[in-house]
Order: sequence, then C-alpha cells, then structure tokens
Amino acid sequence: MNRPALIILSGLALASCGQKGEGDATAPAPDRPAPTAAEKAALLAALPAPYDQADLDNGRRVFARCRSCHTITEGGPNMTGPNLFGVFGRQAGVHPDYNYSAAVKQAGFIWDGERLDHWLENPRTFLKGTKMSFAGIPDATDRRDVIAFLKVETGYAPAARP
Ligand code: HEC
Repeated sequence: MNRPALIILSGLALASCGQKGEGDATAPAPDRPAPTAAEKAALLAALPAPYDQADLDNGRRVFARCRSCHTITEGGPNMTGPNLFGVFGRQAGVHPDYNYSAAVKQAGFIWDGERLDHWLENPRTFLKGTKMSFAGIPDATDRRDVIAFLKVETGYAPAARP
C-alpha cells in the first residue's frame, strides 16, 4: 500500500474512534465506559414493563438500604454480600470469590426482574436458608424502582440478554 493511502486510512480510524466522544486520551480506558445520563434514560425507556415506568431517583434512595452490604460497580469488591454488577442474566450464586449459602448456590435460576422482586420482598421466604439478613422491601413501587435502578447501573443489556 502506498503512503497516502495509509495516511487516509489511519485518518478514518481516528475519525471513527472519535465519534463516541467519551473520555480523553490520557484517562485509563474502562472496559465499558459508564453510561451517561442520556444513556441511562434510554436504557430505562427500553426496559420491559413495569420497569420502564420506574423512578430512578427513588430507586437510588431505596438502594441505600443495600449499600452497607453490596457494591454495584464493575469489578467492585464483595462485602457482606456479593458485588452485584452484571447480576441480571446471571445464575444465582456464581460471583467468583464470594462464599454463598447453599440455598443461593443451589437455587439454579437466572436472576431477572421478577425473581429479584420476590427476593427483595422477603429474601428468607423466597430462598429458605439464605444468609442475606435483610427484612425485605414491603412496597411494590420501591421494589420496582430499585430493580430498574440496578438494571441501569449494573450493565444490564436487554438485547444481549433477552
Ligand atoms: C445485611 C447485608 C445485606 C443487605 C442490607 C442486603 N443484602 Fe443482598 N445479599 C447479602 C448476602 C449475605 C447475600 C448472599 C446470600 C446467600 O449466599 O445466602 C446477598 C445476596 C444478594 C443477591 C444475590 C446475588 C447473586 O450473586 O446471586 C442479590 C441480587 C442481592 N443480595 C440484592 C440485594 C439488594 C437489591 C438489597 C437492597 C434492597 C440487598 N441485597 C440488601 C447481604 C445483604
């Protein structure tokens, strides 16, 4: 290939890289850039009902009840409970380096909105023998909002994980 062609090609590659317009060249590139507010709004709107109607601000407030035991960022540490990034579409009880109860390890299902709704209403009756000591969220709207918040914040991808 001759030189001008190479220059044009590399120019094209740079132009297409720049299209996302996220981050700057000196910052370490995360595996997946954190979604912007607009992307979060789009994700919310694309969630299956009733989660598309959720109030993310309320979801964030409700999540305050979980924060003492769970991180939700990608690669975040396990605490009393496991890190929850990527939990939707993942089998229960499989986060590496976390020591689950037999109840969760043997649950054998994949987390989705409906399972999380039952779990959060009352973890102990949903999975007898769990070591998640959490009384539950009695209010259905609070559960809807925190589940939508978690979907938006933990890398849920509707297209990739139907
Ligand atoms: C007092 C600590 C504590 C609180 C508060 C708590 N959790 Fe947990 N959570 C745990 C523990 C411990 C486990 C592991 C349960 C087991 O192995 O039996 C767990 C497990 C989970 C799991 C299963 C994860 C997996 O990998 O299968 C989900 C989902 C979850 N919690 C969500 C929540 C949400 C959402 C809230 C807030 C509404 C919450 N938890 C509040 C301690 C807590």
